[in-house]
Amino acid sequence: MGDNAKFSINGDNFEYPVLTGTVGPDVVDIRKLYAQTGAFTYDPGFTSTASCESELTFIDGGEGVLLHRGYPIEQLAENSSFMEVAHLLLRGELPTEDEFAEFTNTITLHTMVHEQLRGFYQGFRRDAHPMAIMCGVVGALSAFYHDSTDINDPAQRRIASHRLVAKMPTIAAMAYKYSIGQPFVYPDNKLSYTGNFLRMTFGVPAEEYVVNPAIEKAMDRIFILHADHEQNASTSTVRLAGSSGANPFACIAAGIACLWGPAHGGANEAALNMLKEIGHPDRIPEYIARAKDKDDPFRLMGFGHRVYKNYDPRASVMQETVREVFETLKVKDPVFEVALQLEEMALNDPYFIEKKLFPNVDFYSGIILSAIGFPTSMFTVLFALARTVGWVAQWNEMISDPGQRIGRPRQLYTGPTKRDYVQIDKR
Ligand code: ACO
Repeated sequence: MGDNAKFSINGDNFEYPVLTGTVGPDVVDIRKLYAQTGAFTYDPGFTSTASCESELTFIDGGEGVLLHRGYPIEQLAENSSFMEVAHLLLRGELPTEDEFAEFTNTITLHTMVHEQLRGFYQGFRRDAHPMAIMCGVVGALSAFYHDSTDINDPAQRRIASHRLVAKMPTIAAMAYKYSIGQPFVYPDNKLSYTGNFLRMTFGVPAEEYVVNPAIEKAMDRIFILHADHEQNASTSTVRLAGSSGANPFACIAAGIACLWGPAHGGANEAALNMLKEIGHPDRIPEYIARAKDKDDPFRLMGFGHRVYKNYDPRASVMQETVREVFETLKVKDPVFEVALQLEEMALNDPYFIEKKLFPNVDFYSGIILSAIGFPTSMFTVLFALARTVGWVAQWNEMISDPGQRIGRPRQLYTGPTKRDYVQIDKR
């Protein structure tokens, strides 16, 4: 603990403890502020507010650092697998070989969904956005798995966590299959987590599907890059929903709803659409000018981040992965050329330099996903699939915290003061 923070309001002085984490900024513990002073703090968008204590993920936005339980994302992306990262996030450590075998086996045993859930999809229009289906189907899981919704029972929490991580690829692949009118493909537990997802997405019952190991590796790395990201909007949504005691399936559905927005998970879809719209490097200056124009709401999608004021470390791994996927598939995509040149031009432009706007994870992810064969509407679904492990780990951490209370922000009220009701004929 550091020195106390001194605070003065209406002539009275107060002191609040300063708490120090293992790394990162200190925090001023203002939990007693309202009781002692009668004042609230005002921080819409939570730019200066730590909403919880967490041991999971650390970001240094100024330096472009992202650590999961201490391990740098670049090292995890290079050496690890999504299942290993899932173990790290959920159980606290990288697994030994035996722990890894046990964990992978446990997850694998939960890949199937209740048969009745398959019928649930028929209620959606075929042209429904797959994220709409994800919100609905994941929320509906609580109606199917009653034996893992008691949040006060650690064993049930553990089973719900495994179920969510294991079933998400199946549910996501089914959302895709439904939209293109193809039959659902059951999981094949001989395959890896990611290989299984690729087969359920791109395979058909009429033919054998052979997983391309290079694509499987790239996809697995994309999942690692999206696994967790501290207290972002959707994770905070999951925590807030969970703080009321809601069951984990409902909480993850809330996270999916939040992730859908274009300022968050929807940005990779928007980034690729933007790059396609630009179409040719010659048009880049026009779009840069629009992004800088205060009277134009247009923003460079895939650029800028609330926390990173440096290169998002995930974006550089993603850029490298695009090259690898293109080499494997022996394709060239003019959109990638547009992206590289747009990045270079923006990074040399005083507006982007001054505002510290760098490419974020979404800038390149759409290009790879499109090359692998996913339609843009599936991009956010893939993000949700991978982020589920982070959401579940954060939710577990919150529920296990004895100091956990319902999340209940306050407000600066600017509406009318008390006034008397007027009968309709007198208004
Ligand atoms: N293009 C042009 N200008 C931008 C951009 C951008 N992409 N992003 C921010 N700015 C400008 C803003 O206009 C603002 O300028 P001002 O100070 O003159 O008003 C300044 O930079 C700060 O922007 P804010 O919106 O205040 O920053 P905030 O932290 O609230 O927003 C966000 C972060 C939402 C990510 C923003 O940068 C953005 O909209 N980016 C595009 C969408 C995107 O890529 N989202 C993905 C985020 S990563 C993820 O969710 C995985």
